[in-house]
Amino acid sequence: MNRILLSVPHMGGAEQRYVEEAFATNWLSTVGPNIDAFEREFEVKIGRPAVALGSGTAAMHLGLRLLGVGPGDEVVVPTLTFVASVNPVSYLGATPILVDSERASWNLDPELLAELLAARARRGKLPKAVVVVHLYGQTADMDPILAACARWGVPVLEDAAEALGATYKGRPAGTLAPLAAFSFNGNKIITTTGGGMLVAEDRSLIDRARYWSTQAREPRLEYHHVDMGYNYRMSNVLAGIGRGQLEVLDERVRARRQVAFRYRDAFAELPGLQLMPQAPWGVHTNWLSVFSLDERAFGCSRDALIAHLDAEGVESRPVWKPMHLQPLFASVESVGGAVAEELYRGGICLPSSSSLTAEEQSRVIEAVRSKARRRHEPASAGST
Ligand SMILES: Cc1ncc(COP(=O)(O)O)c(C=O)c1O
Repeated sequence: MNRILLSVPHMGGAEQRYVEEAFATNWLSTVGPNIDAFEREFEVKIGRPAVALGSGTAAMHLGLRLLGVGPGDEVVVPTLTFVASVNPVSYLGATPILVDSERASWNLDPELLAELLAARARRGKLPKAVVVVHLYGQTADMDPILAACARWGVPVLEDAAEALGATYKGRPAGTLAPLAAFSFNGNKIITTTGGGMLVAEDRSLIDRARYWSTQAREPRLEYHHVDMGYNYRMSNVLAGIGRGQLEVLDERVRARRQVAFRYRDAFAELPGLQLMPQAPWGVHTNWLSVFSLDERAFGCSRDALIAHLDAEGVESRPVWKPMHLQPLFASVESVGGAVAEELYRGGICLPSSSSLTAEEQSRVIEAVRSKARRRHEPASAGST
């Protein structure tokens, strides 16, 4: 029996042709027609100038640097996220402030953010930037977040690594703030095996990020350097994969949503298992199908269900462990955290690939069902 994985690459068909063109023309480094075309096509799709990079983490790093983040600064980041949202803050010598989630979307709580910014303003030192993460394919509630930031003049970077294809009030994730980072990591909704994209409202910021991404090499014959750069550019081969993937993005969004809603419908009769909220303000791609499990009602713990699924040949994962619980950030200030902890403790991500077949999904559904309490069984009976 083949193992069903959490989220696997799903090629559309055209990728190989673009990659073969790169080989045929020997454009095998970090310059070439696929890179230029991928950036152009991404700009058309998203509506913002874009620079193709080696990873989403690199895009976050350059985005924060463009906002002027440096040693001694503070940057607000939601605590419920993947560590790559926070590490780039540390790369720049700045300190994160970790803020709790709200329940409607599991993303940054706008009220806590507004209170924090007001308190910092009273103290006379505002954070240098706010990172807003759109978790698991769902946008944060951007209007009150942007209003709070605008009040104090604090710029926002969207971490849209998990949210390509999502919308907020009809606008694409990644175009809601002046800067945004996307990821094409192997598990994402579309992939370049590994890669990322930084987009900005202001094209000159993208030009600067592109310059930094190639060791800030000056356009001269000799190797001349004025500024510090990085080796962060995407290769022309991987950009070819990205071009093919971008062509099927809309289909991938539809398929991921369908997977999530099929689980939701199949589990409607099970006690204590709920699809993560689908906030009313936009389209949630459900990049991952994420459920909240109430141990008492469901009949076994989240970790027991993960172990059971593993034994049945099904990969599942806990929701991101909040950053304020990580030893790496033990000394960092956090604001609230109880909501993120609760979402983490009961949160489980189920196989969500856009290529998941109906038969495979039925296997996952049966494996989950076999562990759940029967509908009329009393809640006190044998929980594991
Ligand atoms: C929320 C979030 N931010 C940033 C990243 C970093 O992207 P990458 O893996 O491409 O560096 C990821 C994904 O890995 C992510 O899930």
